[in-house]
Amino acid sequence: MEAGNPHAVCIPLPAQGHINPMLLLAKLLHFHGFHITFIHTEFNYHRLVQSRGLDSLRGSPHFRFETITDGLPSTNMRGIQDLPDLCLALPVHGLRSFRELIMKLNARSDVPPVTSIISDGVMSFTLEVAEEFGIPEMVLFTPSACGMLGYLHFEDLKERGYFPLKAAAVILNTFDDFEHHVLDAIKTKLPKLYTVGPLSMLQRRLCPTNLDSIGSNLWKEDTQCLGWLDRWKPKSVVYVNYGSLITVTPQHLREFAWGLADTNYPFLWVIRPDIVDGGGERILSKEFTAAISDRGLLVGWCPQERVLSHPSVGGFLMHCGWNSTMESVSEGVPLICWPFFAEQQMNCFYSCTKWGIGMEIDSDIKREKVESLVRELMEGMKGQGLRQNAIDWKKKAEIATSPDGSSYINFNKIVIQLKQRMP
Ligand code: UDX
Repeated sequence: MEAGNPHAVCIPLPAQGHINPMLLLAKLLHFHGFHITFIHTEFNYHRLVQSRGLDSLRGSPHFRFETITDGLPSTNMRGIQDLPDLCLALPVHGLRSFRELIMKLNARSDVPPVTSIISDGVMSFTLEVAEEFGIPEMVLFTPSACGMLGYLHFEDLKERGYFPLKAAAVILNTFDDFEHHVLDAIKTKLPKLYTVGPLSMLQRRLCPTNLDSIGSNLWKEDTQCLGWLDRWKPKSVVYVNYGSLITVTPQHLREFAWGLADTNYPFLWVIRPDIVDGGGERILSKEFTAAISDRGLLVGWCPQERVLSHPSVGGFLMHCGWNSTMESVSEGVPLICWPFFAEQQMNCFYSCTKWGIGMEIDSDIKREKVESLVRELMEGMKGQGLRQNAIDWKKKAEIATSPDGSSYINFNKIVIQLKQRMP
């Protein structure tokens, strides 16, 4: 790659649901000739070394990793960080560290000068550095368009200056058909809006083997669950996962457990080590383990996209995180929605009432309700309708990410715009 090549610095919020889409976007840009500097916090860099090994962070000569400090104490016995603390510390300590990093990168002769900064929507402090150095910036907003529209209505956030986003352009991991009306509404406030989703589908289509070894899972994946899935009939397994941030009460965990056990369907359930204070699996009794026998598999973290694309998976009980929603739509899998925070309630509302791909479960989980909704999803008339809608949306997502599709065209526009704006 020549010194004249574009150089994009990609900086996600240091949380799993934000790192994943940023990494996909970075790989796509790399495929289009960009030199990439991908930024992790020091804390997450060490977690990635532990979960995936140092090799996964070596990148390639033109896909490099750098770190910034997040300002939180380095001694952290639980291995996870408190997101509110992180959001307070980053704009102070992260900003200083980020500024130093940009200066360092621009002083180096072995990498092209930084020509653009792609920042997570929640990392708006990076705008200050972009302005200071005269570097164009684009913002990747990781939630749904409907979630974003919700945020845009937060008067308080507007008063505090977070919104409207002071950015030249915003990138969204969704596709036009899926959130048409919402996108039209957002465009009245932010005209330069690029929908490039589902990002994982676009990346698979455009550059399936590009930088395959680079991953972003902060927890160690249990890949044996894929072999376990092979044992079951098509569309017979319930997949259960609440994403990377949610914590649940021991009581809710027990209600989920017995509700799933009572359905008699096989289930794959991801119980992160930090999902319940005190350890999730220990809260589940021996009686439960005996009741499910080998019909239920509990793992700490799984390769979710591979699980969702497995033929035996017939439904997804989930928290309405946006990445999980997009990944499920990409595989045509219907949902039971248990939203928790951020824009998840909005994603749930749209999944259940607009897109027709999900059913909501009450926030105060009861085992009887888990059982009846899982049965409805897997074998009921309503479940059949949701599955058909999910398959229809999958087809539309495939159209959006194919040449001439909206996401494909928008991604090429981003590439052109970023290259044009090189100094
Ligand atoms: C949260 C919000 O819910 C989300 O909408 C927002 O944009 C970011 O913060 P999170 O809890 O991380 O996100 O959920 P989600 O957005 O679904 O992202 C989780 C990611 O981790 C997905 O890409 C999923 O594939 C991956 N994952 C999760 C795994 O690979 N394995 C697992 O076992 C669990």
